[in-house]
Amino acid sequence: MLTVNKGDAVMRYGTPGECKALNPWRTFLASLVDKLDTRELAKRKKEADSKIEAMLKDAFGEKVKEMYEVRTLATAPEAQGRGYGSALVNIVTEMGDADGHDVWLITSDAYRFYETLGFSAIRSSFVGGDNPKWKGKPIGIRIMYRPAKTANPFFSKERNGALSEKGWEGSRGSQHHTKDFVASD
Ligand SMILES: CC(C)(COP(=O)(O)OP(=O)(O)OC[C@H]1O[C@@H](n2cnc3c(N)ncnc32)[C@H](O)[C@@H]1OP(=O)(O)O)[C@@H](O)C(=O)NCCC(=O)NCCS
Repeated sequence: MLTVNKGDAVMRYGTPGECKALNPWRTFLASLVDKLDTRELAKRKKEADSKIEAMLKDAFGEKVKEMYEVRTLATAPEAQGRGYGSALVNIVTEMGDADGHDVWLITSDAYRFYETLGFSAIRSSFVGGDNPKWKGKPIGIRIMYRPAKTANPFFSKERNGALSEKGWEGSRGSQHHTKDFVASD
């Protein structure tokens, strides 16, 4: 996890080859948190999880295990607009560029923010459409993808040209490279 100013902004990320299930404490704590869910929330989580899983499989297949993932990103409302969010995401994309690994993430309404950082939406879906209790519009979810600028010869022998053409339209990049205020734990 990376933070800015001890909590003004926070980002969790996953690294290539990392297996979430290997951490028994995380699995145990997640199962306790899940028990707090109402039945409706559990149902909605299941719906979102299965749609996300299908989109990921369709977009990347097994290759997803060899990518970086931006998992959680948030900046405190009073600290927004100072470049913290962009700087955190740029750290992951710069690591990906350095070692030739692509980056992906899931977002609902922040996709335009990620587009400014070089990501493109390559899959999208909706959740909540079949929930009779939900009166609003269905919630859009998107898988965003950013290929590494340099391919890793050990990883991306078969980096999918179709994926790049379908998903990558280039980027104007970002001005924010403010690594100095970022801490990791
Ligand atoms: C998205 C978020 C992390 C950006 O953090 P930040 O520290 O303010 O980011 P930056 O200062 O680097 O960039 C701010 C820019 O992003 C834009 N932006 C922020 N949220 C956006 C969104 N949802 N859609 C489009 N643009 C967005 C701002 O308008 C601003 O644009 P500008 O530079 O042209 O003025 C922050 O707004 C946030 O925590 N939002 C709520 C949680 C969230 O949506 N997280 C992402 C979930 S995947």
